[in-house]
Amino acid sequence: MSQISHDRLLIIDFGSQVTQLIARRLRELNVYCEIHPYQKVTDALLKEIAPRAVIFSGGPDSVTRAGSPRPPQAVYDLGVPILGICYGQQVMMQDLGGKVEAGEHATAEFGRAWVTPTGLESEVIEGWFTDGAGRAQVWMSHGDHVSEIAPGFEVLGTSPGAPFAITADRARRFYAVQFHPEVHHTPDGKRLYENFVKLAGFKGDWTMGAYREEAIAKIRAQVGDKRVICGLSGGVDSSVAAMLLHEAIGDQLTCVFVDHGLLRQNEAVEVVSMFRDHYNIPLIHADESELFLGELDGVSDPETKRKIIGRLFIDVFQKHANEIEGAEFLAQGTLYPDVIESVSFSGGPSVTIKSHHNVGGLPEKMGLKLVEPLRELFKDEVRALGRELGLPERFIGRHPFPGPGLAIRCPGEITREKLEILRKADAVYIDQIRKHGLYDEIWQAFVAILPVRTVGVMGDGRTYDFACALRAVTSVDGMTADYYPFSHDFLGETATRIINEVKGINRVTYDITSKPPGTIEWE
Ligand code: XMP
Repeated sequence: MSQISHDRLLIIDFGSQVTQLIARRLRELNVYCEIHPYQKVTDALLKEIAPRAVIFSGGPDSVTRAGSPRPPQAVYDLGVPILGICYGQQVMMQDLGGKVEAGEHATAEFGRAWVTPTGLESEVIEGWFTDGAGRAQVWMSHGDHVSEIAPGFEVLGTSPGAPFAITADRARRFYAVQFHPEVHHTPDGKRLYENFVKLAGFKGDWTMGAYREEAIAKIRAQVGDKRVICGLSGGVDSSVAAMLLHEAIGDQLTCVFVDHGLLRQNEAVEVVSMFRDHYNIPLIHADESELFLGELDGVSDPETKRKIIGRLFIDVFQKHANEIEGAEFLAQGTLYPDVIESVSFSGGPSVTIKSHHNVGGLPEKMGLKLVEPLRELFKDEVRALGRELGLPERFIGRHPFPGPGLAIRCPGEITREKLEILRKADAVYIDQIRKHGLYDEIWQAFVAILPVRTVGVMGDGRTYDFACALRAVTSVDGMTADYYPFSHDFLGETATRIINEVKGINRVTYDITSKPPGTIEWE
């Protein structure tokens, strides 16, 4: 159970692709919310969470189908405001005595629509329809539709395809909308959430300052006077976790930084000097590059590389952690999206595209208990907390870097020579991106060195050197991505710089594959 003392909003997830966006919108309003799949929302959970308001998410099922997802009846008796979205609206109508019709009657609606007000007033639509146009743009995505609203409900807004686009039972403070206010394509959607949480009485006290204080108190209560080990990767999550822990328990914390020899230029030096020298956090710098590069010698299969790195990482981490006497806890930078149990309608296990590198299984093997101080946060909240803790902006805004490091940016066999060339090319590329002010627009950018040499001509001589690929993508969460549309001038200038400044590369290409069908990394 969470120990958060703020007023809570419960989001009941019926399996929409965008449920997490509802949580994002609410967190932006400084409201603490939790997402729970509908199957897990029992009367006991309702009592435990004691929400100040509830939101029903959208979902892919049809309420007209027997056995379709429902909330427990008790939710309607809590006496708190409820907002139903799309499938959530249909559930609410059906449960409370209205009617929903299935999609066969050409009632499906996908995409942009305009809602016009009926003239009935309600706090929930305050500030909407005020731009002079008399209508608001919304995003619809539904197959079924409500054909009769439940007793007690009135219509506040309609659209050509959805006569019950916005409905409300003003006495019970139940609201239900057919569209998705959480998505970007409903430009004024945030206001609907703002009005909803305001009428529910939320104070908007979920701030990073408050979170920091509470997290520190929780860590102290959990850890007592015991020692904690934290694996530091140099990434934002583990760094923020380490800073927070250090503030909470000082020298009871020891960080272990495993240097696998697959880091970027100057990375090890920067991480060690920042944490050990600047912040005085006890840090073991485990330089194990010989071991990793030795075992990777001659290996070219991507999954084999990942497995070797994952196994060695755990061995090495364990070896160094064993040297820390009396350690009882292992700190991890787990984030909220990793914790949310998503509703799965497909049932089957998903295909493994890549074996991700993590330290799963380690705590049990070592007999350690877990401390996860970021479990309630989204990525951008972790960044905000990092700022609150005084981590430099340049560090907080860093692009993600994968656990297996440069190994997966070096398709084919890994050699020290290739790694050295890759480091230099990557440094030039990132320097270019920063110089052109593009770094923060890009989710992730890096160079991959290709397992191919090509012929070139420099001066009057023939060259036979490596080709490399530049990668830059925009993304929200790394699950899907688009390539970044650099200008030709930028690409030309960068290629020239890399070829001039990095010995060993004579050809530069730009990867314009999105994800899917590609992945962000090359392996
Ligand atoms: P892909 O290549 O799967 O990557 O599109 C999506 C995001 O995940 C990062 N990535 C990893 N991160 N351990 C990590 O911590 C890994 O094993 C790993 N593999 C990929 C990748 O850099 C991108 O941000």
